[in-house]
Amino acid sequence: MKNGLALETADIFEDIARISHFASQSLSLAKKKEYAAYYTPKALSEHIICVANYQGGKLGDKGAGGGILSASAAARHILSASKKPCFISANEIIPEIQQFLEQSYSLISRQAESLNKMFDYKIAGDFLMVAGEAIAKPYGDYDSIIINPPYFKISPKNTFNQIIKAHLGFTVPNIYSAFILLSLHLLKPKGALTALVPRSFFNGSYHKSFRRYIRQHYSIDSITRYRSRSNLFKLDNILQENVIVKFTKRHQVPQITVFTCTDPDSEPEHNMLLPSELLLDNDKEIFVLPADHDELNAYKRIKEMPCSLADYGLSISTGKVVEYRHKQSLNNFNIGAMYIEAKCLDTNYDTYRKKHSSRSHGNAMHINETTLPLLLEAQNVILLKRISSNSDKQRMKCSVLRQSDCISDKVALSNHLQYISGEVLKDTQFSLRLARYLSSPDVELAMRAINGTTQINASDMSLIRLPFLSEV
Ligand SMILES: C[S@@+](CC[C@H](N)C(=O)[O-])C[C@H]1O[C@@H](n2cnc3c(N)ncnc32)[C@H](O)[C@@H]1O
Repeated sequence: MKNGLALETADIFEDIARISHFASQSLSLAKKKEYAAYYTPKALSEHIICVANYQGGKLGDKGAGGGILSASAAARHILSASKKPCFISANEIIPEIQQFLEQSYSLISRQAESLNKMFDYKIAGDFLMVAGEAIAKPYGDYDSIIINPPYFKISPKNTFNQIIKAHLGFTVPNIYSAFILLSLHLLKPKGALTALVPRSFFNGSYHKSFRRYIRQHYSIDSITRYRSRSNLFKLDNILQENVIVKFTKRHQVPQITVFTCTDPDSEPEHNMLLPSELLLDNDKEIFVLPADHDELNAYKRIKEMPCSLADYGLSISTGKVVEYRHKQSLNNFNIGAMYIEAKCLDTNYDTYRKKHSSRSHGNAMHINETTLPLLLEAQNVILLKRISSNSDKQRMKCSVLRQSDCISDKVALSNHLQYISGEVLKDTQFSLRLARYLSSPDVELAMRAINGTTQINASDMSLIRLPFLSEV
């Protein structure tokens, strides 16, 4: 066997995992980064295969790597009592990796032959090359597709986006969403796509049209959420919150199964069967994903609150000072408008307190024609860090900047801060009560169900509803 692999143990799944591992090891760090070639660990692949529950027919693996997903699903099928033929159509862009894929599928071929089952496969290169043909049709001929796609940003002007813009009227911001979209298009009616993907398409404005498209044409049947961002691809040191989503080409099912796992080596801690309308239908078109009953109940309580931020005339905005762009206008001598940076905001207090940071860009911004549009009048506002660190237990920590805290008539806020402003905040006691409410454990838990990243977007915040003014 090539590469000195000691294969053909009694366990075909072990052999497939080993081929995938060797495929991963054969790549330099630079190549892994270029193609986002981070391969699925065996324990995680087992859960994905279980969710996919492939029952024969045409199986897709797009961005197949060493083939751990499709080869394991095919092996499981061939070892079952079913006589239904299995055909894999795989795409892998790196030619050297295609050789490992061949090895995985050869194992399946031999297994199928010995059991008198029908198996065949085809390996092609760049998956995105099929976009023009696939997107033009409303559906394809795949029974099942299982993917762990690459992940990196793509420009709205790239060829794939130009094709989908022409046919569907929108673009996607990342190659993983391109892989999902294309795979969905290849499914036949009732066919299923099981995808291990970042959770970031669940919220945020860049994926809004994509979510709307999914809602119109596909069902989300199950979602697996992993509590930790860091441990899925621990060998490759990848940090992001991942989910496994099973989509089916049919109308949305009324209930979605949500599995929660701590890490891929452990069994799902629990599963919940939740109404699809609770997770998928809200006026911000965000997909909500509670990890457990605490998050679920907090989200429901917040959703039931009588008022929105807009009902109080409140709006949420992002600070306008982009540090690297405006650093020439900043100074350390209190000259001009008071400048507040996220790293200098001490969130241990209800009201604004400055914290020392050696990495600070300054405490003030010069006022001139260029900077004037970036500034606000000194006033009471509620400040919230837009980006928290991965280890922060609490992300929703709000502080009130009172007009009396402002040492100049104008204030400059870093774009790493979100701020809530409005007439009602002139009442400082109300501002403090509102900041406390927004920093409460319930809002924190609800926010975790709304957003899986360490960033809090203004659109996520507008799903946080408020009690009546007198009760805040
Ligand atoms: C995240 S890895 C996952 C591999 C495998 N599915 C697994 O689960 O272990 C993504 C794979 O997609 C491949 N890839 C990247 N861009 C591709 C493209 N445009 N078409 C086909 N494959 C691509 C990479 O080379 C890499 O092997």
